[in-house]
Amino acid sequence: MTDKKWNVAVVGALGMVGTEMIKTLEVRDFPVAELRPLDLAQFEGTEVDFAGRKVRTLAATAENFAGVDIAIFSAGAQASLGLAPLAVEKGAVVVDNSSAWRMNPECPLVVPEVNPDDLRWHKGIVANPNCSTIQMVVALKPLHDRARIKRVVVSTYQAVSGGGRRAFDELRDQTADLLAGRPANPQVFPHQIAFNLIPHIDVFQDGDYTKEEWKMVRETQKIMGDESIRVTATCVRVPVFFGHSESVNIETEKKLTADDARNLLQSAPGVTVIDDPAQLRYPTPVDGAHTDDVFVGRIREDFTMENGLNLWVVADNVRKGAALNAVQIAEELVARGLVEEWRSKE
Ligand SMILES: NC(=O)c1ccc[n+]([C@@H]2O[C@H](COP(=O)([O-])OP(=O)(O)OC[C@H]3O[C@@H](n4cnc5c(N)ncnc54)[C@H](OP(=O)(O)O)[C@@H]3O)[C@@H](O)[C@H]2O)c1
Repeated sequence: MTDKKWNVAVVGALGMVGTEMIKTLEVRDFPVAELRPLDLAQFEGTEVDFAGRKVRTLAATAENFAGVDIAIFSAGAQASLGLAPLAVEKGAVVVDNSSAWRMNPECPLVVPEVNPDDLRWHKGIVANPNCSTIQMVVALKPLHDRARIKRVVVSTYQAVSGGGRRAFDELRDQTADLLAGRPANPQVFPHQIAFNLIPHIDVFQDGDYTKEEWKMVRETQKIMGDESIRVTATCVRVPVFFGHSESVNIETEKKLTADDARNLLQSAPGVTVIDDPAQLRYPTPVDGAHTDDVFVGRIREDFTMENGLNLWVVADNVRKGAALNAVQIAEELVARGLVEEWRSKE
């Protein structure tokens, strides 16, 4: 490792994920020479805290990518489609957290615990997967390596912070309104979210599955490098602030007992197993919130098939599901000399 430092832009710096990214860069002591927070022009001048300093936010324009080595994007797909190529043109490597580039065959889709070697073939843009997919593949990878997963049936219980700041505020305000006897006034979600569940995340697409559900299917296959894995998903928004939970049922080619799976997961990178029913110990989103790991519990054999397992998987969607995974990608790019190599091509 050299002691070289890098100029890092965070696009969407004032958003839910952008804020966490800046905090994550600081907490993980990422070698930042200059932090450049970028957001909409109307917020220019807004200060963010970084490493004991106040840093002024600039407008996310092509000129403001000059001199940037790594640009971490978290401003939504439209912003990424327009701005990421401009950042690459200026010589930066982009780590993009939106859905814009994930299925582009030119862009690796990376979870560092699962497929870090895919970073080798990047052409300027590396995509960060969807939050629900990230936590699931971290838990599935060690099981797939040992027993080959043939099929996955997943139901998600996704926190409102996954929808960004406005979604977070809507749950907070609606809860207060309803408790005070005032009516719910849905603006961000299509229905009341406080004291309710909404089986609908992102837009409806083919076969009446939502885009979020299709992301889990296609992104899982791309990250695991195995298009034969069959995945079917039902994604549900729940009135939880931080932490996505997932009930995951898998069918494997080879037999894995619950103990086999527990042992494999216990030594897997980025995973913490909490699985002691006798002591009422299993992960909940409150335990997972504001932490880094993917928590797995309720590991059971599925007695309705020959080689089946049930798992309960919890992680903080803003951290491992977004900011942490993106910063880990940046760390891996730097450790492999890939940022230096890209910059030298200018
Ligand atoms: N939240 C999660 O758990 C999560 C997980 C995985 C992936 N993601 C993805 O991360 C992205 C950001 O999500 P978020 O939750 O942080 O949303 P958010 O809280 O709404 O933040 C997005 C930020 O980007 C700004 N922005 C919008 N357009 C921009 C542009 N053209 N240039 C610069 N800045 C712009 C927004 O400003 P305004 O608020 O004024 O529009 C806001 O400050 C999305 O693509 C989302 O799908 C989020």
